[in-house]
Amino acid sequence: MQQPKKIVAVIGSYRKGGIIDSAVDEVLAAAGEQGASVSKIYLLDKHIEFCSNCRSCSQDEGDRRGYCAIRDEMATVLDELESADGIVLGSPVNFFTVTALTKRFVERLVCYAWWPWGARAPRMRTTERPRKAVLLLSCAMPAIMARIFCGAPRVLKSAAAALGARTVGLLIIGQVAQQEHQALPARARNNARRLGYKLTAGFR
Ligand SMILES: Cc1cc2nc3c(=O)[nH]c(=O)nc-3n(C[C@H](O)[C@H](O)[C@H](O)COP(=O)(O)O)c2cc1C
Repeated sequence: MQQPKKIVAVIGSYRKGGIIDSAVDEVLAAAGEQGASVSKIYLLDKHIEFCSNCRSCSQDEGDRRGYCAIRDEMATVLDELESADGIVLGSPVNFFTVTALTKRFVERLVCYAWWPWGARAPRMRTTERPRKAVLLLSCAMPAIMARIFCGAPRVLKSAAAALGARTVGLLIIGQVAQQEHQALPARARNNARRLGYKLTAGFR
């Protein structure tokens, strides 16, 4: 029997049950309906240190991610993501970019680059994209403004690429910071579910 396809979501929001968490739930529910096995990783619950810019992870050439000298939970999170067929990356927009929680995780993805001392710029170790990615952002401003003025979409897209994923959908959920406990708007719910189907399309 075929193994169920695996979808892993990384949540960079500070609020469990908030907009991003709820949007991730919709993506995963739709993917689950298509027979995928789904799971969530809350960055809030993980011990992940800041990248120290020692660059030891990026000195040696090769397709596999470089070895990070920091002993925390990053390696197990990356093992989990590398074993997935699809990933979801979600973050609120804070100060025009992803949350600090998300950024701390993203900076650690430098282990997927080959960047020896002496080289001017990093190069991705591989251009292979064996998995798909869906990206979710939420913000107080209208979504169209976030698309134009914020760096957040680019941060998540490059994180997905580093994780060997081709982005198949980006959902920006705008105008969501008007109440303390705002429900995920119906339209966003539908769009998130659509992305869940897109993530699993062709899996069966
Ligand atoms: C410190 C902070 C900075 C924020 N900066 C922005 C911003 O620059 N632009 C914006 O549209 N919304 C901003 N927001 C609103 C958040 O994007 C919004 O509360 C979040 O998307 C809700 O998602 P959550 O329920 O998952 O926390 C900010 C919120 C906080 C707390």
